[in-house]
Amino acid sequence: MAKPERPLPDSSALLAAAPEGVGEGAWIDVIQKMDEVYSDLLQYEVALEEKNAKLEESQGFILSVLTSISDILVVCDRSGRIDDVNRSLEVFTGRSVESLRGTLFFDLLADPAAVDVAKGLFALRSDAPVHDCELALRAADGSAVPVSLNCTPRYSSVGKSLGVVVTGRPVGELRKAYSALRQAHDDLKRTQQQLLHSEKMASLGRLVAGVAHELNNPISFILGNTHALRRYASRLGEYLGAVHAGGVPEDIQALRERLRIDRILGDLDPLIEGTIEGAERTRDIVDGLKRFSALDRDESSRFELGAVVERSVTWVCKAAPERFEVTVDIPDSLPVVGASGPMQQVVMNLVQNAADATAGQPTARLRITGCVEGDVAVLRFHDNGPGIDARHLPHIFDPFFTTKPVGRGTGLGLSISYGIVERHGGVLQAGNHPDGGAEFVLRLPLAGNPAA
Ligand SMILES: Nc1ncnc2c1ncn2[C@@H]1O[C@H](COP(=O)(O)OP(=O)(O)OP(=O)(O)O)[C@@H](O)[C@H]1O
Ligand SMILES: [Mg+2]
Repeated sequence: MAKPERPLPDSSALLAAAPEGVGEGAWIDVIQKMDEVYSDLLQYEVALEEKNAKLEESQGFILSVLTSISDILVVCDRSGRIDDVNRSLEVFTGRSVESLRGTLFFDLLADPAAVDVAKGLFALRSDAPVHDCELALRAADGSAVPVSLNCTPRYSSVGKSLGVVVTGRPVGELRKAYSALRQAHDDLKRTQQQLLHSEKMASLGRLVAGVAHELNNPISFILGNTHALRRYASRLGEYLGAVHAGGVPEDIQALRERLRIDRILGDLDPLIEGTIEGAERTRDIVDGLKRFSALDRDESSRFELGAVVERSVTWVCKAAPERFEVTVDIPDSLPVVGASGPMQQVVMNLVQNAADATAGQPTARLRITGCVEGDVAVLRFHDNGPGIDARHLPHIFDPFFTTKPVGRGTGLGLSISYGIVERHGGVLQAGNHPDGGAEFVLRLPLAGNPAA
């Protein structure tokens, strides 16, 4: 507590100076009263000083807050004259609070149009607040800076309207942040589009590679047969020329043997048959692609699984190493309903995978067996390769999963096959056989089974 600086008046001196005619008792009463009043005064002074210190402290606090606010702040009276501003407005306008005090708020605006809008909007005597009103204020460098303004009425402690408080934030900053955000968003969208495009291109590339892989077998088969037919044609031509020239029978017979005409004649049928088959397969693949692109449904008909397996094995073995031995043990009749082309694609992929897996074995073998279990046709493909690694087993039906070198496998074979078998109401399972090697089991509803 602050000590009273003024000394107390000396009461004995006052007593000595008592005017004549005044009783000493009365005089002592007066002096005592004066002492009391004086000490009360001193207490009031101390309390006042304390309150003053607190007031100064809270004023300093409010000032520091107002100075730290980055938004501009203007306090106006009821006639729109400025009572006070914060540091941000001083910096914004380049003018001191003293020079602004008493001037009109509208003088801060950059042009008469803004003044008109502001007068209409703020209607300084009205009680309604104004939010986010964008107006141009004159900045310190003389430029017009758009500011987003909020205006709220100000009241005295007894509820009397005192004017308004205007706060604002230059929208340049907001705009910059917004346009940066927009730019980032646009960039993100563009990158996403590019990613999508490259993903599409990659998928297309893989699909093309898969189609090329599927077409490769029948086309090379047709090509090989056609070359053989051309060689045969020239030998037949030579032979027929000699026959028509009317040579002696012994010479013609010798020529027939030299040109191996009888072997040629025996080969012609299988060669032509194989060529037709290859061409049909090519046509089927193209048809399948057309159907795929047109999203048509596969044509459904009844067909024999045995015939499909036979054809698939023939085609794959043409391209596979000679020592790839395939044994087929399927009942004569194993009819199913569906699209034989896609089913052939499934079987060909299983045979091709077995050929690839057994390529490192001294004797590469695949055993295909068929049987009927209830009203389901079952085909088992058991090879003597290394089997499927346990780590790979959960992924082998995933699209693009392959362990083959680039250019050898697309990883689409099993995933496409899975879809085809599923569409036929069947199941395709993969696993390892207890005797070693991989075993794939294909189950399809027999023709006549309601599931078919
Ligand atoms: N008989 C098998 N033995 C061992 N692993 C196999 C066998 N069949 C398939 N796999 C494994 O499954 C993977 C996927 O086979 P899938 O047929 O889907 O693709 P791919 O043969 O690699 O390529 P694509 O068939 O498209 O040319 C193969 O890369 C291989 O790792
Ligand atoms: Mg494959």
